[in-house]
Amino acid sequence: MAVESWSPASWRNKPIVQVPEFTDAAKLADVEGQLAGFPPLVFAGEARKLKSLLGKVADGEAFLLQGGDCAESFAEHHADNIRDFFRVFLQMAVVATFAAALPVVKVGRIAGQFAKPRSAPNEKVGDVELPSYRGDIVNDIAFDSAAREPDPVRQLMAYRQSAATLNLLRAFATGGYANLENAHRWMLGFVSDSPQSARYQELADRITETLGFMRAIGLDPESHHELRQTDFFTSHEALLLGYEEALTRIDSTSGDYYATSGHMLWIGDRTRDPGQAHVEYARGVKNPIGLKCGPSLKPDDLLRLIDLLNPANEAGRLTLICRFGADKIGDHLPALIRAVQQEGRRVVWSCDPMHGNTIKAASGFKTRPFEKIMSEIRSFFAVHRAEGTYAGGVHLEMTGKNVTECTGGARAITDADLHDRYHTYCDPRLNAEQSIEVAFLVAELLKEERIGRGQRLIHAAE
Ligand code: TRP
Ligand code: MN
Repeated sequence: MAVESWSPASWRNKPIVQVPEFTDAAKLADVEGQLAGFPPLVFAGEARKLKSLLGKVADGEAFLLQGGDCAESFAEHHADNIRDFFRVFLQMAVVATFAAALPVVKVGRIAGQFAKPRSAPNEKVGDVELPSYRGDIVNDIAFDSAAREPDPVRQLMAYRQSAATLNLLRAFATGGYANLENAHRWMLGFVSDSPQSARYQELADRITETLGFMRAIGLDPESHHELRQTDFFTSHEALLLGYEEALTRIDSTSGDYYATSGHMLWIGDRTRDPGQAHVEYARGVKNPIGLKCGPSLKPDDLLRLIDLLNPANEAGRLTLICRFGADKIGDHLPALIRAVQQEGRRVVWSCDPMHGNTIKAASGFKTRPFEKIMSEIRSFFAVHRAEGTYAGGVHLEMTGKNVTECTGGARAITDADLHDRYHTYCDPRLNAEQSIEVAFLVAELLKEERIGRGQRLIHAAE
């Protein structure tokens, strides 16, 4: 079968779903033209570096930590939000790195995560029906007709916000803030404040001892820059393809096309039809690509998508982000893993324990029970263990703020608490403490996996 030629615009010839209806075509073309002239947000060399790190994850030699907002918003664009998110994320990374005894690849859902797929094109409140909110890059969340009208100019605002966010993240990652000893100290603060501190204390103590030992032998952040700095990458759903196309550029080093709106882009569960526009766009850019895999994905469809998205079977190119729900993962994941294994496809397996576990609480709020989130992660590790494959990462919706959007966790947030600080623009996120708790619980699973790996190595050597 001949492979059709690709261009950054070839998606325009395919059927497409989840697109806003822009009424002013001239204005849209003008915005896209402006974006096409703007500087790239990320560089091809960075995307290649991320791809090679994800290649290590595919081979079981690193772990992927991916997380951030469901949807970034213009109103919440503050330095302290970015800082608090980064701070929590680093604490999670310390815990995971130690437990896995492997490098942790750090990828934020940030600096570009603005566009949202919706279950219905319109939203009805009483007798009034308006276009659904599709993320701040498209329209405004307020329920009035002017606000909900898709406005192309918002893409310029999203681009500039992404640039400013990325600028701060780069400064944090390399300018001293990401010092390992800082992150460790913050983590100790979390442990001492947690109602579950007894459970987390032992791991925290072992990290303290290890860092003390390292310092004693001269491995300190003052003299070793890798202990002061980290590589932090950005990602978002590649949903608004006009925006993505405008930021797709040829890399002068390789001559290849890269998306420069973020390091890694993913395809959503609602837009992964192999004959449609979103898959068409993603197949042609060389960035690492994520593919959301939900309960409706059949093994044959997955193999077809892998053929399209990773024809060269390059490890690190494709991350399968599984989002089945705690009660469904056992029915769906094994068959997908077997199909991939049988065909010898090299992929990263990551677990999104958020999107399959969303419920409507009695209070009317959309929420996710912490126990369901943990249960899906546990099952994810268990299934991989049973199949002999590697549970390579987690993909979380989280914030550094103390919101009340998911129920449960050590502070036992209840349905009645949700109204207190429910701030999300879209789906319910883990708050700062719940996020670090997930990291500690994942650490227990990573440790088991590490011990299993050690035993396999010993057997192999015997
Ligand atoms: N550079 C290493 C890494 O990113 C070590 C490191 C520095 C680190 N600062 C960190 C690890 C903060 C976790 C969190 O893995
Ligand atoms: Mn979401």
